[in-house]
Amino acid sequence: MSLKPREPLPESRSTQDLVVEMVDDLAAALVNARIYRPDHPRVIESARSTARFVRELTPVEGERGLRLSVANDLLVHRGHPLVGASIAASRLIGAITARGGGGLEIDDDASNDDVARLLGGLAARPNEGEDWQAFNTQLANLGTRSVRMLPPFVVGVRGTALGGRTTIVTPVKFYQSCIDVLQEVTVSICHGGRIEFADVQSHAEAVLRRLEGDEGPLMNLARQDQYDAFTFGHSVRVAVLAMNFARTLTSDHELLIRIGTAALLHDCGKSLVPFEILHSRKQLSAEEKREMSKHPSYGAEILLDHDAADPLTIAAAFGHHRSCDGKGYPNTLQEHHNLLVTEIVKICDVYEALTAARPYKRPMSPVRAYRVMMSMGEHLDRKLLRRFIENNGIFPIGQLVLLTTGERARVIAQTNRIVFPRVKLETDPHGSPLLDPDALTIDLSLPQTHPHRGIVEAITDLAPTVVKPRAEPDLTTFPLPSV
Ligand SMILES: [Fe+2]
Ligand SMILES: [Fe+2]
Repeated sequence: MSLKPREPLPESRSTQDLVVEMVDDLAAALVNARIYRPDHPRVIESARSTARFVRELTPVEGERGLRLSVANDLLVHRGHPLVGASIAASRLIGAITARGGGGLEIDDDASNDDVARLLGGLAARPNEGEDWQAFNTQLANLGTRSVRMLPPFVVGVRGTALGGRTTIVTPVKFYQSCIDVLQEVTVSICHGGRIEFADVQSHAEAVLRRLEGDEGPLMNLARQDQYDAFTFGHSVRVAVLAMNFARTLTSDHELLIRIGTAALLHDCGKSLVPFEILHSRKQLSAEEKREMSKHPSYGAEILLDHDAADPLTIAAAFGHHRSCDGKGYPNTLQEHHNLLVTEIVKICDVYEALTAARPYKRPMSPVRAYRVMMSMGEHLDRKLLRRFIENNGIFPIGQLVLLTTGERARVIAQTNRIVFPRVKLETDPHGSPLLDPDALTIDLSLPQTHPHRGIVEAITDLAPTVVKPRAEPDLTTFPLPSV
């Protein structure tokens, strides 16, 4: 398939949006540079796209292009930590910190070749004793002087504060590690190598441990509205959702880990879908959709090639786009019933896809996502879907909400009143952070205790309001079937 030129950039996007998209490009380019040679057309295309992004940036004084620094495992741009983008870019961050660097700088006159050489350098393991200066010397020896690694320096990130109004509670490093293991799976598949199931299983087990300990931060991770081209973040979020849901259905520890592993690998067949389709930032054409719809078959084939593959993992990879009534894809000649694990993964897969940000759509609120899912007929198991909705709630765990008092709070548990969860206050009514670790926890379902507090609206950490419930009776419009 020929490489298509990128669509013209919409003029309304902010610099921050542009940088986030560019970091995603860089992260994807780095994976491509690990799979292919640095002079492969896909790497060159990624480099071209990155160089173009840098030229699009509005320059500020003292900067010659793009300057990204690294602090606390996060990429930082002009003092703003790029939380979601940093998660997908863990390899990029690792490549910088492994050389003792403090960031990257790409000048606005950097050529495609300059960026391609930068990517090639970052994708390679550091040589013995190679630091950021040696890295820059190697680039200079290749005639590349418009890109460089920055020396370590202190950047203006105040602890974990984000814009002074709320705090980052996402366990970024753990999330990055999950993404990393899935990147390894993809690189290995593309090289015709083996999948290290033990690594994937140990990450599923770690997810479960965290969910059993304190699900709030991890479920907040499931709400990071950051897109990554290879959809590794999607698979991790689906796994967190699936395991959290499955915990309400079974207490079988081993089975929960198998479900988590199946969820982490459900889209492994996408490794064989052409990158231009995976990476497309617009709606797919009919032909591209057909190609994309092969990924469940690819996934099952890849897994069947491994003796160690769990049948549950194979079943989920194969069946997670098949409906309960046999529709969907792949087609089979004989009737084929999905296993329960496949139905769990399928529900979480759809929910994640609807509530996540994509280049061509904003994230949907949980309520709207539930409505869409309820209208999908036999595609999803309706009894299971109802259980999922009850468990996940209108305001899912980890959701940031604005209270009637003006305070901001984080949802930490559901109650028997679906729009009145238990929350933990994060700011006072004026928006100042409450840094006390024992900050007030409130059960909003107890009006006698908190008569003046309710939820005005749900807010995402990085994006505007997504849902405004007015009152509890709103649920009458909610088409839940009787179980
Ligand atoms: Fe899929
Ligand atoms: Fe998926």
